[in-house]
Amino acid sequence: MQRFTDKVAVVTGGASGIGEAAVRRFLDEGAKVVFADWDGARGQTVAESLQSCSDDFRFVEADVADEAAAQGIIDLAVKEFGKVDILVNNVGIRMYQTVVEASAESWDKLLGVNLKSYAFCAKAAIPHFQRPGCSIVNVASVRTVIAGSKTVQYDTAKAAIAGLTRGMAIDHSPDGIRVNAVCPGPIFTPFHARRIEAAGQTVEDYNDDAAQRTMLRRPGTPEEVAACILFLASDDASYMTGSCLFVDGGMTAL
Ligand SMILES: NC(=O)c1ccc[n+]([C@@H]2O[C@H](COP(=O)([O-])OP(=O)(O)OC[C@H]3O[C@@H](n4cnc5c(N)ncnc54)[C@H](O)[C@@H]3O)[C@@H](O)[C@H]2O)c1
Repeated sequence: MQRFTDKVAVVTGGASGIGEAAVRRFLDEGAKVVFADWDGARGQTVAESLQSCSDDFRFVEADVADEAAAQGIIDLAVKEFGKVDILVNNVGIRMYQTVVEASAESWDKLLGVNLKSYAFCAKAAIPHFQRPGCSIVNVASVRTVIAGSKTVQYDTAKAAIAGLTRGMAIDHSPDGIRVNAVCPGPIFTPFHARRIEAAGQTVEDYNDDAAQRTMLRRPGTPEEVAACILFLASDDASYMTGSCLFVDGGMTAL
C-alpha cells in the first residue's frame, strides 16, 4: 500500500516503540517523515537504520513540551519538505505516585509532556494544513476510560487527550482537518521493558498479565498500533473525526 505518496508526516517520540513503528510504516507507505525525540542517541540510531532504505526523513532532537521547540519541528518539516499534512502526537512519560504524593513540579512535568506538547505541536501544524487530507492523530491510551494504581497523573493526561481530540476536531472541521486518537492497551515497547526491569519482573510476567486483561490474551505490538495510526491519518478514515479508536485486544470491552 502507498497511501501517503506526496504526504509529509511529523511524528513526536519517534525514536522508540509506537512512534518508531509509525515512522517506519509512514516511510514504507511513501510519506516523507520528520520525527522528533528528546533522546538524541536513540534518534540517531533509528536514523542510521533507516538511511539504508530511505532519504525521505529527518530526525530532530527536541523536547516537544517546549513550545518553541514544537514550532521548530514543524518549521523544519516545511523547510525540508515544503509542507506538513499529518501530525502524530505520540510522546508520553509516566510517574508512579498518588495525588497526595505528587508535587506541583511533577504535575507540570507530566502535563507538559503528555498533554501540552500535543497542543503545542497542533498549534504549530494547523496553520500549514491548508489542503484536503490533513489530519492529526493523538496517541492516548485505554487510560482515557480506565485507571491504574498510582498513575493518576498519567491517567488524567490521557483522559484530557480525548477531550483535546474532540475539541480540536470541532474547531478545525470547517477547514477539513480531521483529529482522532488511538487508545492502545498493553503494547510491549521499550517503555514497558524499562518498567518491568525496574520492578524486578520478566517479559513472561508482562505477557501473563496482558493475557489475563485482554480478550485476545496477549500484548499488542507497536506495529499493530502504528497500523491504526496510519489508518486514522489516511483517506480510508475520511469520515472519522473526534473519535477514539481502542487498539487494546478487547481490554476495555472485557
Ligand atoms: N506501550 C503501551 O503499552 C502504551 C499503552 C497506551 C498508551 N501508550 C502511549 O503510547 C505512546 C508511546 O509509548 P511507547 O510505549 O512507545 O513509549 P516509549 O517510551 O517506547 O517511546 C516514547 C518516546 O517518546 C520520547 N519522548 C518522551 N517525552 C518526550 C519529549 N518531551 N520530547 C520528545 N520526545 C519525548 C521518548 O524518548 C521515547 O523515545 C505514549 O504516549 C504512551 O503513553 C503506550
